[in-house]
Amino acid sequence: MKKVIHKHPLAIRWLHWLNFPILTIMIWSGLLIYWANDVYRLGWGDRTVLKFFPGSFNKALNIPFRLAEGMSIHFVFMWLFAINGVIYFLYLVFSGEWKFIAPNRNSLKESWLVILHDLRIKRGLPPQKKYNAAQRIAYTAVIIMGLGMLLTGLAIYKPVQLNWLCAMFGGYEWARAEHFTITILLVLFFLIHIIQVIFAGWNNFRAMVTGFETENIDAKTETAMPTEPINTKSETDEQA
Ligand code: HEM
Repeated sequence: MKKVIHKHPLAIRWLHWLNFPILTIMIWSGLLIYWANDVYRLGWGDRTVLKFFPGSFNKALNIPFRLAEGMSIHFVFMWLFAINGVIYFLYLVFSGEWKFIAPNRNSLKESWLVILHDLRIKRGLPPQKKYNAAQRIAYTAVIIMGLGMLLTGLAIYKPVQLNWLCAMFGGYEWARAEHFTITILLVLFFLIHIIQVIFAGWNNFRAMVTGFETENIDAKTETAMPTEPINTKSETDEQA
């Protein structure tokens, strides 16, 4: 028997989905700016393993010679990113939703079990509420990354007026490198996030759109049945 349960509040869904186009535009316009002074690479000495970004990449995305356009778009959308992020953060705090996201003292240990489970090395998962331990750590990290993105961005946007902020990140060059590194980490988070969403399946994705998901219920006892992956609602949680 299936039961429909409410999973994601309307505000979380809107704020979550708004992030997607806003961040896509921020990253794309960031590339238009970065191209004009593309100094970063992976390597040592004269040896370069990976240049950010190869000419073919820039050409394929039509990046070159669009610095002014990139700056104007980046500096408009950063406000939308900031406003969306601040509202999301305040909502988490005041609605109590933060309890589902903040890692607890078992999260680090349990996240290994989740990873082993997802890699099909181990069966069974520790009890969880809305999010498993790995998700708690990843989502909290992404919120911190969002804040880091905003602050390092402001530091290199107004390095004179906000010189204290720029100094806090080690000066202009460091703040720029940190801004770039966080962007790469965010893109990596996004790729893993999408793979996880695909593996978690339609029911999980639909819940982020409609707010509701279905849960298997034992017809006799009318309690949630343990399913793979994860029984999300039946266990108690330390922070509940
Ligand atoms: C096409 C793009 C995306 C898809 C399909 C997607 C899908 C989802 C889904 C289905 C969930 C719920 C997971 C669950 O209930 O187990 C979720 C949660 C979450 N996603 Fe995404 N996501 C996308 C883009 C992003 C982006 C760009 C970010 C931020 C950089 C992000 C950050 C998060 C966070 C922080 C949560 C937890 C939300 C909360 O409960 O407050 N997602 N995502």
